[in-house]
Amino acid sequence: MLKPNAHYAELKDSYLFYNISQKVKAYLGTHPDARLLRLGIGDVSLPLCDAVIKALHEAVDDQAGRDFHGYMPECGAPFLRASIADHYRRRGVMLSDDEVFVSSGASDELGDILDLFDRDSTALVIEPAYPAYVDANVMAGRKIIHLPSGKENGFLPDPGEEARADILYICSPNNPTGAVFDRNLLQRWVDFANENGSVILFDAAYEAFIEDETLPHSIFELEGAKNCAIEICSLSKTAGFTGTRLGYTVIPKALTRAGMNLNDMWVRNRTTKTNGVSFIIQKGGAAVFTDEGQKQIKENIQVYKRNARVLTDALDRIGVWYCGGTNAPYVWMKCPDGMGSWEFFDYLLERAQIIGTPGAGFGACGEGFFRFSSFGNPEDTALAATLLQKLLS
Ligand code: MLT
Repeated sequence: MLKPNAHYAELKDSYLFYNISQKVKAYLGTHPDARLLRLGIGDVSLPLCDAVIKALHEAVDDQAGRDFHGYMPECGAPFLRASIADHYRRRGVMLSDDEVFVSSGASDELGDILDLFDRDSTALVIEPAYPAYVDANVMAGRKIIHLPSGKENGFLPDPGEEARADILYICSPNNPTGAVFDRNLLQRWVDFANENGSVILFDAAYEAFIEDETLPHSIFELEGAKNCAIEICSLSKTAGFTGTRLGYTVIPKALTRAGMNLNDMWVRNRTTKTNGVSFIIQKGGAAVFTDEGQKQIKENIQVYKRNARVLTDALDRIGVWYCGGTNAPYVWMKCPDGMGSWEFFDYLLERAQIIGTPGAGFGACGEGFFRFSSFGNPEDTALAATLLQKLLS
């Protein structure tokens, strides 16, 4: 008889955002006319920018005629790999085009990339953390080391003995806390990884929200990172591709472990397991890296940043502790009056029809905290801020 992967039994019953959607569905069942203010999952509310839409239309026309494309190269279309490598080079990070892999999104890639590592390797998750880091490793039966962080270190811990693991997850700007690793601290993690032979999986999905230009957008801005890091990026939040799906991953050619080259291994993996991302979507993605595309996506990001500001202004007026929201699209607040984070979730839903994300969903040390996403539409965000202020003042 077939033996299923028994590690699935070790997972929590269901995934955080699924739990939230079930709770919301139940609420709508009893309050069918409620106007919900959705500040929960980090899903964008603005449409794709004009430059991307134009490129998508043109690519559809290509598919209708002589410029038709069949299978795309598994690791990404050369035109897109070149645009992304060039984007890095313009920021001072020298990459060759074949160090860039096009993916169908960062969340897919964060799971798939684990194929590169032995199942006996250990994974460090700095918590609170995006829950898929933990779940993907539980599914693979890997030992997970949970490193809690908190208000006392600004949710940005230093490496140390308790952080020793083979795979080190770092997300900066951080989901859910919005905290950002500065150069000195990130350099200490890079040095730590190199000293221990670990590999950092650097989740840079939110780098486009950094406005303090002393902060690193890419781990490859740090000395020695090409010997120890893989960077996973996304156009979801940067350019509104949550429903369109596109991302990219950088694996330096210099990254080797036990005599094996991780870039070569990923080529082998991709050429076996995918037929690449759709030509049409990659054409749309390439438009993001043009001057026009960059200008337009930055305008959209400013809308989300204004949302974050509306929320943090309200929290300032109430006098609640929070972090994030400046160099990141998430605002991470302390729940009022010692409330638990699911308790606060229910309270906001019942009393103001606001949906946020309970901190406990990001790991045990997220208990007592709550996350707001700034990706909602501005009217809803403004109304949510007003209601929040009324409720908590
Ligand atoms: C989040 O809300 O944490 C993210 O949107 C989830 C994701 O990117 O998959």
